[in-house]
Amino acid sequence: MIGRLNHVAIAVPDLESATAVYRDTLGAAVSEPLPLPEHGVITVFVELPNAKVELITPLGENSPIAGFLSRHPQGGTHHLCYEVDDILVARDRLAAAGARVLGDGDPRIGAHGKPVLFLHPKDFCGTLIEIEQA
Ligand code: CO
Repeated sequence: MIGRLNHVAIAVPDLESATAVYRDTLGAAVSEPLPLPEHGVITVFVELPNAKVELITPLGENSPIAGFLSRHPQGGTHHLCYEVDDILVARDRLAAAGARVLGDGDPRIGAHGKPVLFLHPKDFCGTLIEIEQA
């Protein structure tokens, strides 16, 4: 059911220095910071030939990644995003299999303007999973 790996999201406490690591040390193409207030993060996209890395840092008081960063103060891998053809078909199949879909189960528009859902890490080998309709 899942298709391509779309991105790996890395939560970071300092977006500027994380961007410098990817741009200067690793030699990757990086975007300008993009605030996503509806998601409570600021994102820098790192463009790789086969997928993206997204550096995310909290924006605002109730950022969904604040708790993660308090447990991982130096940052860390936050979630993986896999592409699916039809997010509602995918959601229903996952729910039927007993997987927990986070939130109210209705897809939201993600950082790329496409519908996304998040899946509980306890159901997926300890990793928060995002699915995005490609
Ligand atoms: Co993501």
